[in-house]
Amino acid sequence: MGIISKDIKKAVALLQNEELVAIPTETVYGLAGNIYSEKAIKAIFNTKQRPFFNPLIVHIQSPEYLATIVSHIPKKAQQLANAFWPGPLTLVLPKKDTIPDVITAGKNTVAVRVPNHPVTLELLKQLPFPLAAPSANPFNRISPTTALHVENYFRNTIQMVLEGGACKNGIESTIIGFENNDPIIYRLGSISVEDIKAVIGEIAIKNKKEINPDAPGMLEKHYAPSTLTVLSSNIVKDLEKYRNKRIGVLSFKNRIDNIAIKHQIVLSETGDMAEATSKLYNALHQLDTLHLDIIIAEIFPDYGLGTSVNDRLQRAAHTI
Ligand code: TXA
Ligand code: MG
Repeated sequence: MGIISKDIKKAVALLQNEELVAIPTETVYGLAGNIYSEKAIKAIFNTKQRPFFNPLIVHIQSPEYLATIVSHIPKKAQQLANAFWPGPLTLVLPKKDTIPDVITAGKNTVAVRVPNHPVTLELLKQLPFPLAAPSANPFNRISPTTALHVENYFRNTIQMVLEGGACKNGIESTIIGFENNDPIIYRLGSISVEDIKAVIGEIAIKNKKEINPDAPGMLEKHYAPSTLTVLSSNIVKDLEKYRNKRIGVLSFKNRIDNIAIKHQIVLSETGDMAEATSKLYNALHQLDTLHLDIIIAEIFPDYGLGTSVNDRLQRAAHTI
């Protein structure tokens, strides 16, 4: 018997019993537990083998719930919440004392979002507590965008994946915090920098290479396939360099047809950035299972979601 199920009632029962359930969101699947259960939160860290210094995101059922989690909401945070919730925006704000330290890794801020997925919103409405949920992948592996990805990672360690189909956005939420009252992007993600600026004006992006205690999760080499991955802005030319290798190609838009490559994935034939982004992790999962010598991934155009995708590709290739 597999662990994938559509039964929301069963998920409610497990979560109320301090167990973990993997849940669908519009970004990636999360590994969820009751934020007030020490047992569940410890199980999240153990199951993922995630270091305890890396805090979790709290998922709430509606924007109004924010005031029960955080002690202060800056004006620009409220504007962002109004514009993007439910949706792939995570706000890092000063936490209320009632939020357990294990969730925030001892920090005085907490990360919060309202996910935009009908199944998980329904689940949250049936629960008397919010859910802590990091992406449902083992530490340093590719985030899951289907229930099957999660099952493949955790079939022996969790009891249930709540089925919600393939994730629409396909990369993680954009994380925004505040430093000296100014907004700052801690993690590029599903909402483009341009769309954020359209709501609150200028915003800085935390330097990716800097050691950054305010965004601890960004220290690690993340999102990596097991297969050696390199980036390219000209795949046809770079193929020459790897002539005797078994190559996988991940391209944004163009198929490379005059070269015999059996293992090629084109993310969007029409060059649709949102479509390409939604398929990115699944494509990396697929190429990784072929056990090739190398994956050559095409660098995306550097605007809109392309900027966020390039951040993930750079992490997959260990160049940041
Ligand atoms: O799209 C998403 O955000 C997904 C879905 C499941 O909601 N979740 C997700 O969680 O990506 P996770 O744990 O893989 O990434 C959470 C990130 C980490 O980089 C963590 O360091 C950061 O959020 N974070 C959490 N609390 C923080 C805080 N108080 N200050 C700064 N960064 C924080
Ligand atoms: Mg993650």
